[in-house]
Amino acid sequence: MIAKPKVFVTRAIPERGLALVRDFCEADVWTEELPPAREVILERVRGVDGILSLLTDSVDGAVMDAAGSQLKAISNYAVGFDNVDIAEATRRGIPVGNTPGVLTDTTADLAFALLMAAARRVVEGDKFTRAGRWKTWGPTLLLGQDIFGATLGLVGFGRIGRAVARRARGFDMRVLYHDPFVAADDPCAAEVGAQAVDMDTLLRESDFVSLHTLLNEETHHLIGADAFAKMKPTAILVNTSRGPVVDPVALHTALREGQIGYAALDVTEPEPIPADSPLLGLDNVIVVPHIASASVATRGRMAQMAAENLIAGLRGERLPNCANPEVYK
Ligand code: DGY
Repeated sequence: MIAKPKVFVTRAIPERGLALVRDFCEADVWTEELPPAREVILERVRGVDGILSLLTDSVDGAVMDAAGSQLKAISNYAVGFDNVDIAEATRRGIPVGNTPGVLTDTTADLAFALLMAAARRVVEGDKFTRAGRWKTWGPTLLLGQDIFGATLGLVGFGRIGRAVARRARGFDMRVLYHDPFVAADDPCAAEVGAQAVDMDTLLRESDFVSLHTLLNEETHHLIGADAFAKMKPTAILVNTSRGPVVDPVALHTALREGQIGYAALDVTEPEPIPADSPLLGLDNVIVVPHIASASVATRGRMAQMAAENLIAGLRGERLPNCANPEVYK
């Protein structure tokens, strides 16, 4: 009997993917609620052929070394892959899988939900009610901002940015985008009525700034003191990309000093945000725990995709969704 390939799965992903992995592999699955500690990962990957990782796990050269030279594939259960050292994996000829496409609309839904919740002060309203403070209808109670007709600036106009633009159309918003990798005459931009602008124009003119960029050296703290100084004092910042795209200290100052109006965050730096973070002491902030892709259907699809990537890599086949296609050159 041929031995099944060995894999380490760093958390229990939905059954739709886990069942495929268990079927094809001898799987060591980390079933705790919290991610395995670094030392645990280094220990558990020893001798494996594949790793199915989460965005909470750093998969760098040391982890690949600990696994050994038989390591054939790394499959990340996320569209983002900033937790994996892609250059190092490529250098070693290891393909890295990710899960693009299946979470686009679910993530765009949450970005829009955050935008609306911040604009209309939904979370503050709920806290107000629960605190027994709703005594009467108030002419100036919890006044927010209109969404229809407002200007939305999208930083990053990839799949998710475009999906947010489509939603904004339904609200008659003016949509601006800035993305150095997308041409100004992009056909999809025309289709959704979005206009390419430089970053300064986007920051200056937007009522809502929503972030949809990868995290890399160029985008680390892209939104910091300089950016906040250019934004409207009423501007609402929405982040469903990666926490470190925003400088958290500058964000706190900007919100406290009224340089911008509100922030609605699905991602933070650090993550999770500590309960005593000064940001959580402000009323004009909403923070949810990195749940943009968290629908039952989408997490199931992501699990299947991550499993299929892993299995293809173990079979020596091309990964259906590969974050480092240059590995095949
Ligand atoms: C991703 O996939 O990168 C999201 O952040 C989590 O689904």
